[in-house]
Amino acid sequence: MTTPAWSQPRVAIVTGGGSGIGASISRRLAADGAAVAVFDRIGESATATAAAIEAAGGHALAVTCDVADRTSIAAGVQKTADMLGPPTILVNNAGIAPFERFLEISPESFERVMAVNLRGTFECCQVVIPHMIDQGWGRIVNISSSSAQTGNFGQTHYSASKAAVIGLTKSLAREFGRKGITVNAIPPSFIETPSLHQAAQGGHLGGGIDDHIPTTPVRRVGQPDDIAAACAYLCRDDASFVTGQVLGVNGGRVII
Ligand SMILES: NC(=O)c1ccc[n+]([C@@H]2O[C@H](COP(=O)([O-])OP(=O)(O)OC[C@H]3O[C@@H](n4cnc5c(N)ncnc54)[C@H](O)[C@@H]3O)[C@@H](O)[C@H]2O)c1
Repeated sequence: MTTPAWSQPRVAIVTGGGSGIGASISRRLAADGAAVAVFDRIGESATATAAAIEAAGGHALAVTCDVADRTSIAAGVQKTADMLGPPTILVNNAGIAPFERFLEISPESFERVMAVNLRGTFECCQVVIPHMIDQGWGRIVNISSSSAQTGNFGQTHYSASKAAVIGLTKSLAREFGRKGITVNAIPPSFIETPSLHQAAQGGHLGGGIDDHIPTTPVRRVGQPDDIAAACAYLCRDDASFVTGQVLGVNGGRVII
């Protein structure tokens, strides 16, 4: 007999839910019984994930939302609350990961990376946490990156934004634990998504994706469902004593 993830119905928001890791997390939380608001800057992508969830018998809402825009976030969260109920699970997954040599990063590019990866996470938390406080329960999972832990050639802005997400996670955990809200981070490494394929095509991975299998302790490429499984655990009722943690899901590529 399996224990249900939650003792009562839950509403989740997954940002960047239209592709890759976010789509997988959306499908997994829905399969576990949550109603899922799939937020994505690209409306058609959000719609495709939501449709897949509905087709599998789950409950989902597609929301076109740019996490770099506070007004867009506020509207999306309000729509979620109106149509699904108060959101008490938030997965901050939307992110951009450009490769640019340090001396070539323009102020605009730096700002954009920070606006999506860091400020977007901050703003989504600020807009959604009041709903969690009202309900006396909440789960936040922030998708960081192993680049935050190790650095990455050609990704100083990205790595800095993802490292900041870990600091944000730990501080939020300390501030909101007393409200029944847990906040954790998952820094993935090398997960096969459209974004990883793009990096490989751009020549940024030092070879093809499969070339990294021999240096990965578990000898395979990570899949979005690997991240979704860890995220689903952190969102469960019975993960209530786990907060402020950084759960590496990386096949052993980063062990610290
Ligand atoms: N794939 C990996 O190996 C890997 C490794 C480390 C970290 N990550 C992180 O995991 C997350 C998901 O990555 P992925 O590989 O699935 O990427 P992806 O490009 O496949 O998906 C990202 C999704 O986010 C959406 N998005 C981008 N900017 C947005 C914005 N401003 N507002 C709303 N949505 C926006 C995109 O439209 C897309 O649907 C990212 O935060 C990424 O940094 C991925």
